[in-house]
Amino acid sequence: MSSWSGVLPTRRAALGIAAAALFGSAVSASAADGKLVIGLVLPLSGAFADQGQHYENGIKLFQKINGTKVAGLTVETVTRDDQGPGSGDLARRLTQELIVRNKADLIIGYSFTPNAMAAAALLTEAKKPAVIVNAATSILTEKSPYFVRASFTLPQLASSLGNWAAKNGVKTAYTIVSDYAPGVDAETWFKKTFEAAGGKVVGSARTPVTEMEYGPFLQRAMEAQPDAVFAFNPGGDVSIAFMKATKERGLQKAGIKLMVTGDVVDDNLLPAMGDAVDGVISALHYQVDLDNPANALFVKEYRAMFGAGAVPSYRVVQGYDAMALVYKAVEKTGGNLDGTALVDAMKGIKLDSPRGSLLIDPATRDVVQNIYIRKGGQKDGAWRNIAFDTIPDVKDPAKAP
Ligand code: PHB
Repeated sequence: MSSWSGVLPTRRAALGIAAAALFGSAVSASAADGKLVIGLVLPLSGAFADQGQHYENGIKLFQKINGTKVAGLTVETVTRDDQGPGSGDLARRLTQELIVRNKADLIIGYSFTPNAMAAAALLTEAKKPAVIVNAATSILTEKSPYFVRASFTLPQLASSLGNWAAKNGVKTAYTIVSDYAPGVDAETWFKKTFEAAGGKVVGSARTPVTEMEYGPFLQRAMEAQPDAVFAFNPGGDVSIAFMKATKERGLQKAGIKLMVTGDVVDDNLLPAMGDAVDGVISALHYQVDLDNPANALFVKEYRAMFGAGAVPSYRVVQGYDAMALVYKAVEKTGGNLDGTALVDAMKGIKLDSPRGSLLIDPATRDVVQNIYIRKGGQKDGAWRNIAFDTIPDVKDPAKAP
């Protein structure tokens, strides 16, 4: 123990120096040997291991359909497990190792904001692009000019719900969000749009990121007797626990409407939530039954790969689109893997995504996309998110001029 604590700082410092020395010379190294190396930094263990699996499945699915060659280069992926949310130290170290040791030309990764945040300065110094596969705090893309987002921002979802609520008879709301940057974004942007349209937030709670006991928080919310509760939490078992608690406490039975960012009621989680999703209003950029040719192909191939009844998470789409962005950018540069050239190539890319049309905003490197407003209900004998409104081409409102 004591020998490790003595050794670690020195080792870390040595790695830092090695990185500084190598970053300059590593540029385009793998283009010379005919390879495009993509480092994947994903949560593959811990409470959110399912998320890493979803992104990886999306990446594999994209390659199954589109092959493993682009612009004459053979695409190799090297996967590392960042173990989910934490300080971000591990994600930064893995990013550094992928760039220095594995000669990654770029990164696809970061489900969680703290992990992307921790890697930002390193990516800037190394001049290596990172396509953010999920992390959704607005400010992230301002933390490095090498970040490009393939996901969404919490303000895109929360502001859509704030507007919807105010226009649909909700006068008072209580917010419950996970206590870290994306939660604060969700709380801020719900309140901002809801109150600007005449509503009033009458109380708010912030819960630990891995909270599994929502009963006391919901109890306090119900005591405030709002028309609605608005919530964000980061998916997986945490969101299942939240939704089950709303049912157990009888939130909706008490006449309080439930509104959540769509990651909370990801299609993939619905079987575990059952009738807790009945009537729940949510906003998201994807759901499995979207009617467009890209989604028809995506769902068909997903089911061929993972089983006839398999329901893809929106996270699978984000992994798939992250890979699509990389392939398009490499095609645009004609196989030049210089990091700055690749980021520039990604700006303004349009994709026919399973989520609908997707544009990388050249000014912010965020996604401009449709946001679908849905209501939980039964369809074809299963619980589903049923879209009833589409807000087209939504930019990140936190950066809108
Ligand atoms: C994030 O940490 O930015 C994050 C994680 C999970 C989500 C949404 C946002 O579902």
